[in-house]
Amino acid sequence: MKTLSESEIYNKNIFLRVDLNVPMMNGKIRDESKITSVIPTIKYLIKNNNRIIICSHLGRPKGSYDKNLSLEPIAKRLSKFLENIEIKIINLPFDNLSRDEFQSSNIYMLENIRFDSREELNSETLSNELSKFADIYINDAFASSHRKHASTYGITKFLPSYAGFFLEKEINSLNELFSKKFSKKLAIVGGAKVSDKIQLINNLSKKLDFILIGGGMISAFVQKNHPDHAFAEEIVINSKAKIIIPEYVLVGNEFNENTKYKIINTVDIEDNLNINILDIAEKSFEKISDYISSSDMIIWNGPVGVFEWANFSHGTLRLIELLKNTKAKTFIGGGSTAEIIHNTSTGKFFTHISTGGGATLEFLEGKELPGIKALL
Ligand code: 3PG
Repeated sequence: MKTLSESEIYNKNIFLRVDLNVPMMNGKIRDESKITSVIPTIKYLIKNNNRIIICSHLGRPKGSYDKNLSLEPIAKRLSKFLENIEIKIINLPFDNLSRDEFQSSNIYMLENIRFDSREELNSETLSNELSKFADIYINDAFASSHRKHASTYGITKFLPSYAGFFLEKEINSLNELFSKKFSKKLAIVGGAKVSDKIQLINNLSKKLDFILIGGGMISAFVQKNHPDHAFAEEIVINSKAKIIIPEYVLVGNEFNENTKYKIINTVDIEDNLNINILDIAEKSFEKISDYISSSDMIIWNGPVGVFEWANFSHGTLRLIELLKNTKAKTFIGGGSTAEIIHNTSTGKFFTHISTGGGATLEFLEGKELPGIKALL
């Protein structure tokens, strides 16, 4: 793979794919870590007198314009991180800019690429159009690398292609997880449905030593009449890793934030599908902390309770405390887990926080990511 870190790229026109698909609420950016992650690549390119067209998607507009999904607020925020450098928003077909006009500014941002229906179809015409002003393509969008789209995949046929600093960092961190240098590897996998995580647990169970199950998924392992019990049993039978089910959990009769709950031992949970497992109880953490302190590499993906409800966020917060203080390398597997870490301002305690949601999950499931394959 050609990487920006091993190349000297000066005075070129760059098409830079990043993933600025940040969580937004009422037009406000809720977590800007995807923006800050690409700053080193952009600063380096500017310093080396390159001209850049930044390209990203935001949300899933399905091929038509949606003003709520415009990249304008994101371009403004990015500009602040770059000492208020002007970032001009452009539209396809590049607002009919001439090459000379293009050369007159340093940094452009193409409006949300998914406003064009050809993006997700990986259209060759679009890939060609995107490469119009560029000498070089740089992919710094790890979180989009599981998508075989025109701006993440097709464009690499038209331009010499490189991995940006952040993409390279994500890949190196992910590859390191399975390396032999760690002697005890633990994964903590939370989530509501075991069927969403079966491929993940299956792949991790071949490569790691322990897998701790958290969240509503625990039901599938302990309740024989649960619709996903067969999946869960299959995991336990085939796993080389020890599958750990927390001993005590909080169960509620209803699935709502104010439901009454009690603490019970998971072996005593009846085959009653009206029971909701809402969090891991404090009493389970004695054993969990032993597993954490005896591991030298820990992957965490998925909250272990219904984190957004105060009554059921304790298990996840307790886990963060333990992970913050462990000597092990800690890897946070993106998506909602990364958002929790950012919202609790604990990011600096972790070895690597992936920006990928689906991309990280697919990598950990052992799948090949088309955006990365295209750079090889
Ligand atoms: C993400 O947020 O996981 C990426 O930006 C990919 O988004 P997508 O699932 O809409 O392709």
